[in-house]
Amino acid sequence: MRLSLLPLGVSLLAAQVLADGASILAAMSTISNATVALNDTLNSFPSSALLAIGDIGPLLVDSVTLLDDINSGVKVAQDSANLTLAETIQVAQATISLRSVVSSTLANLITVKPRFDQLVVVSPVILVNLKLEKDATDRFGKAVVSKVPAAFQGTAVTLLAPIDAAFNSTIAIYS
Ligand SMILES: *[C@@H]1O[C@H](CO)[C@@H](O)[C@H](O)[C@H]1NC(C)=O
Ligand SMILES: *[C@@H]1O[C@H](CO)[C@@H](O)[C@H](O)[C@H]1NC(C)=O
Ligand SMILES: *[C@@H]1O[C@H](CO)[C@@H](O)[C@H](O)[C@H]1NC(C)=O
Ligand SMILES: *[C@@H]1O[C@H](CO)[C@@H](O)[C@H](O)[C@H]1NC(C)=O
Repeated sequence: MRLSLLPLGVSLLAAQVLADGASILAAMSTISNATVALNDTLNSFPSSALLAIGDIGPLLVDSVTLLDDINSGVKVAQDSANLTLAETIQVAQATISLRSVVSSTLANLITVKPRFDQLVVVSPVILVNLKLEKDATDRFGKAVVSKVPAAFQGTAVTLLAPIDAAFNSTIAIYS
């Protein structure tokens, strides 16, 4: 009886070990989806001639949701145990996908800026949010990198650098 329980105990233990990488991956998926939602909202913005102050509401909601999701991700990553090699590879793959989602959304934010410029208050509000999101993203990146095996931390930093660069250039355009 005891012996037959053993495999269950072992698999539960394995599940716990995997939970940290899995929770970071889930946080990244949440962040990615919130970024896509923000991008969709950008795409449904009216042209500058039709833009009204109320149109900024959905954008702010999406921005705040994204910021919350990144901040939750920071906590998840900080609370995580060190990642195994297998988890590190999965997180690296997820980082590459997230990087393209974030870069394409930031590029879109630059594309739609002329529409916002019709209303003086919009760009400064976006700038504040961008800075908060960049700061949270930096903290998320640092927290994840600190859980990666030491030998891979340099590579992890390199994988994240384009996200930082994309934030920098978008912030420069909104400043
Ligand atoms: C993100 O969106 C994808 C596709 O819609 C979905 O499969 C996935 O479950 C979502 N992730 C989270 C964490 O909600
Ligand atoms: C954001 O929207 C632009 C414009 O439609 C599109 O080219 C880009 O692929 C979208 N990116 C994401 C992450 O949805
Ligand atoms: C986690 O990894 C770091 C190196 O990145 C190491 O300094 C630390 O001791 C490790 N922590 C545990 C609990 O193994
Ligand atoms: C982004 O800007 C910050 C602060 O200005 C700077 O420290 C960082 O190196 C820049 N990142 C990249 C990838 O250029």
